[in-house]
Amino acid sequence: MSTDQSSYCLLDSGNGRKLERFGAFVLDRPCAQAVWRKSLPARDWSKADAVFIREAGTTGWQFRGAWPEYWLCELAGVLFRLQATDFGHVGVFPEHALGWQKMRSVAAQKTAGKLNILNLFAYSGGATLALAQAGCTVCHLDASPKMVNWGRQNAALNHLEAAPIRWIVDDVQKFLQRELRRGRRYDGVVLDPPSFGRGSKQELFQIDQHILDLLALTRQVLSPHGAFVFFSCHTPGYTPLVLTHLLTQGLPPGNIEAGELTLPAEGNILPVPSGTYAFWQQNPSPGPRR
Ligand SMILES: C[S@@+](CC[C@H](N)C(=O)[O-])C[C@H]1O[C@@H](n2cnc3c(N)ncnc32)[C@H](O)[C@@H]1O
Repeated sequence: MSTDQSSYCLLDSGNGRKLERFGAFVLDRPCAQAVWRKSLPARDWSKADAVFIREAGTTGWQFRGAWPEYWLCELAGVLFRLQATDFGHVGVFPEHALGWQKMRSVAAQKTAGKLNILNLFAYSGGATLALAQAGCTVCHLDASPKMVNWGRQNAALNHLEAAPIRWIVDDVQKFLQRELRRGRRYDGVVLDPPSFGRGSKQELFQIDQHILDLLALTRQVLSPHGAFVFFSCHTPGYTPLVLTHLLTQGLPPGNIEAGELTLPAEGNILPVPSGTYAFWQQNPSPGPRR
């Protein structure tokens, strides 16, 4: 079992649960997709510092000892302030670390100026901060003022208070339409739409109804030399192939790589599928003809 007291690690999963270390604390939470058997013995699971129960009549955390208001955890080089929320979330979705690493490596290859990136449905800022660390300028957008404030706190934790990040509370679709009218364009777009969400003024977002319009706006806001679009999703049925088809139809011709997001794990721990992604990159421009 990993004992690193500062970072994230999946420790085990099975029987509808996942056991994860987030910094100094081990959490036992529901995980519907873990239909297989647990690998670790019950005595390891019983050492969890907190258990989240989601059952009719009893939904909430059970803590083994005194519980801090917040604590810290590092994931893929980004430090997060975590909190045990009423939904069983803690303020970071570790499966996104894969995308941050892929985008950072694209940013690192760009030598001509900073990439200007738009992060939509940006939550607590994982992609924003990973890209800011890689020298990008980032526009971070979420409908929730609380989440945007959380992202700012995470920026401060990572000594990125002065980094070129615009923090925006708005509805994704309204903001994209305004950016297009203002003539603003981006070199990269990150989007992780929920199945169902609300904008800052309660505008309805439903993935099945709005994804085609959202991708049409994404295409328009991407600059002609745009480097990438990273599209991830947790909606059942939105498989890697579905995401690939959406980007193939919705974006200019490019290279598309797609797959499953998994919780970062070490050694022979079974990876836990936790969503899907498709990563579109601009075709490299042809070199001079000989
Ligand atoms: C599950 S989170 C996305 C996870 C995130 N991308 C990450 O890095 O971990 C979904 C986020 O989308 C935001 N959201 C939902 N509907 C929205 C809308 N119409 N406009 C803007 N943000 C929205 C929510 O406030 C929430 O923070």
